[in-house]
Amino acid sequence: MEVIIRATLDACTSIAATIVAKHLRERKCPVLGLATGSTPERLYAELIAMFRRGEISFGGCTTFNLDEYVGLDASHPQSYHYDMRTKLFDHVDLEPSRTHLLDGCSTDLRAECRDYEQRISTAGGIHLQILGIGANGHIGFNEPFGSLSSRTWVKILSRRTLEDNARYFQDRNDVPRQVITMGVGTILKAAHCLVMAFGRQKAEAVCQMIEGPVTARCPASALQLHRRTTVILDEPAACLLQHRADFEWIERNKLPWQRYD
Ligand code: PGA
Repeated sequence: MEVIIRATLDACTSIAATIVAKHLRERKCPVLGLATGSTPERLYAELIAMFRRGEISFGGCTTFNLDEYVGLDASHPQSYHYDMRTKLFDHVDLEPSRTHLLDGCSTDLRAECRDYEQRISTAGGIHLQILGIGANGHIGFNEPFGSLSSRTWVKILSRRTLEDNARYFQDRNDVPRQVITMGVGTILKAAHCLVMAFGRQKAEAVCQMIEGPVTARCPASALQLHRRTTVILDEPAACLLQHRADFEWIERNKLPWQRYD
C-alpha cells in the first residue's frame, strides 16, 4: 500500500483531488467508484471547485456508488442517493444516466445486486474507487467477518456502524439495519483504490488495515492484496502506525512522477 500522511485536512484533500483529476483527464471514459459519509465530503467540495475553475470535467465519466440503505428511497435525506446529488452530482457536468447507485427499495434485492455487478462489468470495470473506512474496519458496508471475496450483496449493519451512523438520523431507531453494498471482492477488482481516513476514531482500523494481518475481522485489510491502493491519512488517523518511518522513507525517495504534490 502507498501510505501518505499529511498534517492538515486541506493537504490530504488536495492530494486526493489530484488523483481523481488525473483519472478524469487521462481517460476518455473514466469510471469512478464513489463513497459517501463524512470522509469524502471535502474531496467532493474540492472537485466541484476545480470543475467551476474549468480544471476538470466529468463529461464521459461513469460513476458507481458503493452502497445504500435498504428501505430508503432516493428522496430520503439520509439516503446515499440524496447525499450524492446534493454533495456532488447537482454541481458538476456528470450525465445523470451515467451515475449508478444501488436501489435499496428494489422489490428484488438479490436481482439488484446481480444487475449492479453486470452494470459495472459492462462499463469496463472501475478505474478509481474512492473509499472511507469505518471505525470497525469496514469498507463500503462490508462489516467484520463477512467474506473477503464477496460481490455486491445485502448485509446487516453491525451495532458499531449503527451507532456511528445514528448521528445522521433523528432517532437511532430510524437507522436501517439492512444495507446493500458492493462486496469486498467487487472493490478489489477496481484498478486503483483510494482510501481516506481522518481523525483519531479511525486510528485502530487504519493500523489494522495497513499493518495488521489480512483478516475478515478488518475487511479493509483485504486491500493489502490489492495491487494499487493509496491511503491518505491525517495525523490523528495515522497515530498508531508502527511503521510510519518506512512510509515516510518511501515518500522522500519517490520519483517526481510518483508524487501527487
Ligand atoms: P465516515 O464513514 O466517512 O462517515 O466516517 C466512513 C465509512 O463508514 O466507510
